[in-house]
Amino acid sequence: MPAGMRVGVLTGGGDCPGLNAVLRAVTRKGISVHQHEILGFRSGWLGPVEGLTMPLTLDKVEEILSRGGTILGSSRTNPYKVDDGVARLKATLEENRVDALIAIGGEDTLGVAEQLTHDGVPVVGVPKTIDNDLDATDYTFGFDTAVHIATEAIDRLRTTAESHHRALVVEVMGRHAGWIALHSGLAGGANVILVPEQPFSVEKVCTWVEQRFERQYAPIIVVAEGAVPEGGKELLLTGEKDAFGHVRLGGVGTWLAEEIAARTGKESRAVVLGHVQRGGTPTAYDRVLATRFGLHAIDAITEGDYGKMVALRGTDIVRVPLSEATASLKTVPLERYAEAEVLFG
Ligand code: F6P
Repeated sequence: MPAGMRVGVLTGGGDCPGLNAVLRAVTRKGISVHQHEILGFRSGWLGPVEGLTMPLTLDKVEEILSRGGTILGSSRTNPYKVDDGVARLKATLEENRVDALIAIGGEDTLGVAEQLTHDGVPVVGVPKTIDNDLDATDYTFGFDTAVHIATEAIDRLRTTAESHHRALVVEVMGRHAGWIALHSGLAGGANVILVPEQPFSVEKVCTWVEQRFERQYAPIIVVAEGAVPEGGKELLLTGEKDAFGHVRLGGVGTWLAEEIAARTGKESRAVVLGHVQRGGTPTAYDRVLATRFGLHAIDAITEGDYGKMVALRGTDIVRVPLSEATASLKTVPLERYAEAEVLFG
């Protein structure tokens, strides 16, 4: 195994609890076991495009294990959408004598990593997303933290819903995949869970709401931001697209609360959890997963096993081709959703 390499590392896309734990593990093992130098790039792919660097030393990664966010900063920059982006990125890597790169991100960041591999850049990927929608890994770090935060919110909202006899709609993140909604909804005992994978009937939602009120309890409805009513469309906050073609979703919770109030005559309120779900300290599970991903990613780099992503399979960390990692999204299977549906109302 070659020791003494110069290894670049960056964090791209939405921030996610556990990113700093990966950076710490990569740096600690990279320096003390493999004698590498670790060069952080700031702000996702913008860093190597613009030459924004931050050397990662043992000192720099002290006390960051439990810190949310990323000390490197992040962005949704796509080097393939920036003028001369890839050429500039390659020039930065050459100027800084970077032998290989670790890219920590979700489908967009890893999609770029895969393209760069074909364009001759040695990259290893680390999966992150609170949405847990990457198909090639059983879990991504950040998801467990997001589910805990959403579950705690549901527990707290339940007490106020009961006191005021209101229906409470909780909008959680998840543009194409309803994992956060499904898991937090199950953990919080939600009376209705709505996911992007299954268009919902407003009439049916109102029936469940009424059933719950009939039992003298207040209903909690958990809805993923990307959930759509039957025959309807996703609700958008803005039509503007980011560098990866995504629009900003949001608003389905408020819309649904108004529909429920109009149809049932019951007071209904919506709470949008938004970025609270991505903020703050990671859970123990996410710290462990992120740390293990970091330790295995630096080994893959050292072995020259490029074009791969580290992934969780059962309890093992394995390597899968980046192409597999970005081929399809892991959405909630309809039978998993049906399992939960039994508990609605
Ligand atoms: O991919 C993670 C995610 O949190 C999605 O669930 C959400 O739609 C999106 O990021 C929001 O991104 P931003 O913070 O850029 O608005």
